[in-house]
Amino acid sequence: MSQHTPYAASADRYGKMQYNRCGRSGVRIPAVTLGLWQNFGSQTPFDTIREIAHYAFDAGICHFDLANNYGPVPGAAEENFGKLMQTSFRPYRDELFISTKAGYLMWPGPYGEWGSRKYLFSSLDQSLKRMKLDYVDLFYSHRYDPDTPLEETLQALVDMVRQGKALYVGISRYPHDAAVFAYQYLRENKTPCLLFQDRYNIIDRMPEKEDLVQLSARNGAGFISFSPLQQGLLTDRYLNGIPEGSRMSRSGSSLSRNVLTPAMLEALRGLDALARQRGQSLAQMALSWLLAKPEVTSVLIGASSVAQLKDNLGALANTAFSEQEKAAIEQTAAPIIITGRD
Ligand SMILES: NC(=O)c1ccc[n+]([C@@H]2O[C@H](COP(=O)([O-])OP(=O)(O)OC[C@H]3O[C@@H](n4cnc5c(N)ncnc54)[C@H](OP(=O)(O)O)[C@@H]3O)[C@@H](O)[C@H]2O)c1
Repeated sequence: MSQHTPYAASADRYGKMQYNRCGRSGVRIPAVTLGLWQNFGSQTPFDTIREIAHYAFDAGICHFDLANNYGPVPGAAEENFGKLMQTSFRPYRDELFISTKAGYLMWPGPYGEWGSRKYLFSSLDQSLKRMKLDYVDLFYSHRYDPDTPLEETLQALVDMVRQGKALYVGISRYPHDAAVFAYQYLRENKTPCLLFQDRYNIIDRMPEKEDLVQLSARNGAGFISFSPLQQGLLTDRYLNGIPEGSRMSRSGSSLSRNVLTPAMLEALRGLDALARQRGQSLAQMALSWLLAKPEVTSVLIGASSVAQLKDNLGALANTAFSEQEKAAIEQTAAPIIITGRD
């Protein structure tokens, strides 16, 4: 697209996507959400960022997930999203559901991370400026802070909504008992938790084991699964080596080469074969497996290219599993399943 041609979203963008209600709220979000943790920072050309973001919105992905620290460098993903707002998405603001978070390190000193009111409010104000927004649709406490009274963190979320800086609130990676407390506190303060965000996929079953998936449903919140592809492991990316430029190939990557053990490769190849029997890619089967669960509101994917995004969207075409298929997945994945917290 020439820089001078204004972006016009595809006219049939809502016909291709499925929208799921977040718990007992009034809000529906797309079954596939695009996350900007990696691939949208200062190391990615803006043309690539724009191409992926436009493709997503044209395909009905109206929910974009950010955080203050997404980059690299921290803040860069929000800045690039702000550039997208200015150059293409502004006319569609009311059609967009934009989330951000605070919890991890953003700036030095005692107020640059965790869960104090001081940090959360400063961070949200910075995020709004970077993203060129008046408000976010959803603000998350990005991680539980064991040293701050939970009431302080949660009251900050409630007040953000009262001040119109966020429409809804959510929590991410909270341990079970803190989540129980948070659901109740937020409900009592008339700002019910919209979404619980955690990593959940064929390999990582921690949220199932710790009752977090079921807990969100019992509390009327939705559940959004981040890293549903286990950062690319649950795709064909690493079945035959570590490709140049892949997440695992990068230095200081969040995806260590050490995970690619012979047992992991054998299980991934087995899962790939099961996916093919279903007429799906491994990535598609991994996403379908999550979307088949009634508690899962959306799968929160990452993508470094339009081709990946396109592949992943294909998951929506087949989210039904026979008992036999489910059992075969369990059996094949058994040696690589994780149930503990990292
Ligand atoms: N709340 C939290 O604490 C937290 C933590 C982590 C993530 N998140 C959220 O979750 C989002 C997604 O996380 P994630 O990026 O780890 O998700 P993911 O979907 O599990 O992994 C995405 C990566 O897998 C590879 N990939 C994706 N589709 C592929 C395909 N069809 N074929 C081959 N490879 C494919 C790409 O890696 P390559 O770079 O190798 O191409 C892509 O960057 C983040 O952006 C963020 O919004 C939240």
